[in-house]
Amino acid sequence: MTQYALMVRDLRKSYGGKVALRGVSFEVKVGEVFGLIGPNGAGKTTTLRIIATLLKPDAGDAQIYGHSVTKEPDKVRKLIGYLPEEADAYERLTGFENLYFYAMLYTTDRKEARKMAEYGAKLSGLGERIWDRVSEYSKGMRRRLLLARTLMVRPKLAILDEPTSGLDVYHAVEVRKAIKQHTRETVTATLLSSHNMLEVEYLCDRIAMINRGTIIVQGTPREVMEMFDAANLEEAYVRAVEQFAKNRLKG
Ligand SMILES: Nc1ncnc2c1ncn2[C@@H]1O[C@H](COP(=O)(O)OP(=O)(O)O)[C@@H](O)[C@H]1O
Ligand SMILES: [Mg+2]
Repeated sequence: MTQYALMVRDLRKSYGGKVALRGVSFEVKVGEVFGLIGPNGAGKTTTLRIIATLLKPDAGDAQIYGHSVTKEPDKVRKLIGYLPEEADAYERLTGFENLYFYAMLYTTDRKEARKMAEYGAKLSGLGERIWDRVSEYSKGMRRRLLLARTLMVRPKLAILDEPTSGLDVYHAVEVRKAIKQHTRETVTATLLSSHNMLEVEYLCDRIAMINRGTIIVQGTPREVMEMFDAANLEEAYVRAVEQFAKNRLKG
């Protein structure tokens, strides 16, 4: 039996009169990296914030290991780690101190907190720079620190909003490796969003493409490319949007 880390069912959300989600459904299996991909404004952050219990949907629900985000948010919060699109670390602390103090929110045992922070330091790939103050970090280094902070507590479902945004090519590759390796080694699941279609080809086991608040296609990257006879996911996305618009006109 397939075990699902996440089941999303018919999520709807409007901001004032503006519809952001028009019935979003998908599921993430245990052990996989799943990518929600689409251009800016498609509804990725809204979906992730609902799953992270920070925003209430107008309708629909999501279950994390069987727990409802709307009815059991406290249970859900113990299972997830969320990296927001815009997040920052404490400037006056070193990278390691940031990890250590965050770890102390999860355990009162100093030894255990230290071990957690050491795992985070390794995940961050910051090397000796982990001992420097965050005020001396570049944007990319901060992103890697926050990603490590999210993953080091070994959440059963990591929810990462644009984890590689603002990173240069070299560091983006490192971050992707860390996400993939972490998900495999800890046998958990990762849901991430990205507007970079090419990166998810490498990173994700399965993907869902979202356009104007609607999932237009999902599957493995290979399946989606084959479905649209496309050489890469960017091409597939464009064709999927065209086909979706055509079908809607017909239907
Ligand atoms: N707080 C908000 N108030 C009003 N509109 C919003 C708010 N947040 C998002 N939106 C709108 O909802 C849509 C989806 O946004 P978002 O979920 O942030 O998309 P993405 O993360 O894919 O860029 C966009 O049209 C955006 O302008
Ligand atoms: Mg977003």
